[in-house]
Amino acid sequence: MNWQIRVSKDREELSRAAAQELARIAGLAVASRGRFDLALAGGHTPQVLYEILAAEYRERIDWKRTHLFWGDERYVAAEDPLSNYRMVRESLIEPLGPLALPPENVHPLPTTFADPDVAAQDYEKFLLAHFGAVGPRFDLVLLGIGPEGHTASLFPNSPALEEKVRWVVPVRVNAQPPLRLTLTLRAINAAENVFFLVSGADKREIVARLLAQGPEGFSEYPASLVRPEGRVMLFLDQAAKP
Ligand code: 6PG
Repeated sequence: MNWQIRVSKDREELSRAAAQELARIAGLAVASRGRFDLALAGGHTPQVLYEILAAEYRERIDWKRTHLFWGDERYVAAEDPLSNYRMVRESLIEPLGPLALPPENVHPLPTTFADPDVAAQDYEKFLLAHFGAVGPRFDLVLLGIGPEGHTASLFPNSPALEEKVRWVVPVRVNAQPPLRLTLTLRAINAAENVFFLVSGADKREIVARLLAQGPEGFSEYPASLVRPEGRVMLFLDQAAKP
């Protein structure tokens, strides 16, 4: 695997290292294209990063030129405890406030359509309008890794891993809640930068397996199929380090 690995003492330090690198990428993107397009991860791990960004990077990131997207979303209401949007709203968007981060820069995956496939198409249409017909090219995609190797909501052996055309798809997974929307590998692998944030001893085994993968990756470990043209950084804490 051609991933750059950064090992930190704990989740707090890992989050600080990721925040610093995220701010550097944001600065470069705004300087070169006038905009920073960031796809956010759900789960528990990135919450500390989002809190640090809101508390310590209010002035160090040009939030008015930053657009927030989601790499995946559980198909639940925006207020649901399981909603990835809710987690980001509480840890980053509300603490920054609408004067720092314009509400029109926040682009959650929609979960209100009766048919999640229509929701996925709706988001895809929005991405194409934002990025242009060539498709999404995020400056940075944040991802986590599940204990069995899933990333975003791309789970082991899912048909979504084979998707070559669409940028966003609905998936039914063996986790709670089962219905989700996710960026496809096509979208993730078009990114300039990908960060994996991985913390805790329960991830050590899967990190070891992922790092042992050859150049093709393995659909039993979807995270190993993340091979963007750009750079991948794996932020680990000591507990997750094999
Ligand atoms: C989700 C995620 C998922 C997550 C991993 C790691 O919505 O479930 O986006 O891919 O990043 O499961 O989650 P933790 O950070 O909670 O370990």
